[in-house]
Amino acid sequence: MRLRADGSGEILADEVMSQIAAHSPYGGVVPEIAARAHVEIIDQLISRALSGAGTRARDLDGVAAAAGPGLIGGVIVGLMAGKGIALAAGKPFLAVNHLEAHALVARLPGKLAFPYLLLLASGGHTQILAVKGVGDYDRLGTTMDDAIGEAFDKTAKMLGLPYPGGPAVEAAARDGDPARFALPRPMLGRPSADFSLSGLKTATRLAAQSVAPLRPRDVADLCASFQAAVVDVVEDRLRVGLRLFRQRVGAAQGVVVAGGVAANGAIRDAVARFCAQAGLPLVAPPQKLCTDNGAMIAWAGIERLRRGLVDDLATAARPRWPLDPKVERSMNGKA
Ligand code: KG4
Ligand code: ZN
Repeated sequence: MRLRADGSGEILADEVMSQIAAHSPYGGVVPEIAARAHVEIIDQLISRALSGAGTRARDLDGVAAAAGPGLIGGVIVGLMAGKGIALAAGKPFLAVNHLEAHALVARLPGKLAFPYLLLLASGGHTQILAVKGVGDYDRLGTTMDDAIGEAFDKTAKMLGLPYPGGPAVEAAARDGDPARFALPRPMLGRPSADFSLSGLKTATRLAAQSVAPLRPRDVADLCASFQAAVVDVVEDRLRVGLRLFRQRVGAAQGVVVAGGVAANGAIRDAVARFCAQAGLPLVAPPQKLCTDNGAMIAWAGIERLRRGLVDDLATAARPRWPLDPKVERSMNGKA
């Protein structure tokens, strides 16, 4: 990644090694497989990225690596590789919070100023945040139980659809009737911007049991009904999140959606509707930058390096690492 004179970022190389094939027989990520797959591929991936960018380690201004939060085996492998390069090449090292990378990548095109409202929705996280500056976040809401992506994945598994569940549920929902099953909209109207998905997941399971054995039409209708409930919840939670944002922070420059769930067309449409009503620009990074990727870590590294926020080589990997330290001890382990 290179910082252009106009403040935007230029991606010189972007290598992503997907492990979906290795995990899909198990219907979810297996931590041991993930850690081993990281060790096996990381050297090749780094040399491919360096040669693709036409650069060498000694020409870099700094080296950034994700230090968490996430499955610790894989995080340690990436972090140690980054530290090794920084040490060998004598470069500043940046230990990036992977959630911060999701939060900041919307600024890569160089146009979005702080502060902005962020909906971060992935397989492990569902949060609404006020992004006030680099390293300066207020968490306005989080999930009390499952993340949205996790709820999609579990629903898919229950309905016999492949992993990862999000795209499979969305595809099945396209032909389904969202009104056939009356599923709950958990947390609707609550004054906090928190989410809860596990009741919806259970209601979907009970609805499926009530019409079993499932025909393709039933699966499509269940997926459409589930997705419609998620869409309503997202819209309602964003409305509350923006209200809290305006009370605590002031005017927002825009709304950003990030994380793998941002790939969902129905959810994107709902956020776009919400933004139009609120009179705020929607900044939705391209899909490639929304799901986990190295470019977003590099960009967060640049944002931190520019502000002199360099890290020690002794920085430890963190399985949990909330962006907003004020809420570190709240909730049930979902940072
Ligand atoms: O951010 P991400 O790539 O990885 C992390 O979890 O950190 O997000 C993956 C999650 C999975 O749960 C996947 O099912 C969900 O994002 N996802 C979707 C869609 N595409 C991916 N959820 C709903 N609709 C989609 N089209
Ligand atoms: Zn992620």
